[in-house]
Amino acid sequence: MKILLLLILPLYLISDTSFISKKEYASQLYKNPRGIGCYHCHGKKGEGKLIAKYTHKGKKKEFRGPTINNITYYKFHKALDERKSGMPRYFLTNKEIETLYFYVTQKKSDKL
Ligand code: HEC
Repeated sequence: MKILLLLILPLYLISDTSFISKKEYASQLYKNPRGIGCYHCHGKKGEGKLIAKYTHKGKKKEFRGPTINNITYYKFHKALDERKSGMPRYFLTNKEIETLYFYVTQKKSDKL
């Protein structure tokens, strides 16, 4: 019986992942892209977010994650491939970058 379970369980786990829709996968990747989630700095829908306010040399400054749901795929992809100041470096595949782009652009048009 135990052996049967051991054989069935991995099959169940593998087949289970195929039930995740593209939308769900995209949402999960945006929240947890093998590193700090994009939403911390770019907002839930990629609309941009105020990360911190500080004073530098007597001047009030803001540190913001820019809006990323209104830019071209080229710009989006390029930003994730190079070093950006203020943003962690991610090592994402083309497919993952495509999925993240799909997520923010479709979230933006979500009327919900
Ligand atoms: C710690 C905060 C932080 C996190 C987390 C973060 N970013 Fe950023 N991101 C920034 C900042 C700050 C900039 C602006 C950098 C600059 O102007 O050089 C930026 C820039 C960008 C740009 C370029 C925008 C433009 O108009 O050129 C894209 C695209 C982007 N981020 C996507 C993402 C994605 C996708 C994730 C998750 C995988 C992510 N970021 C995670 C802070 C963050």
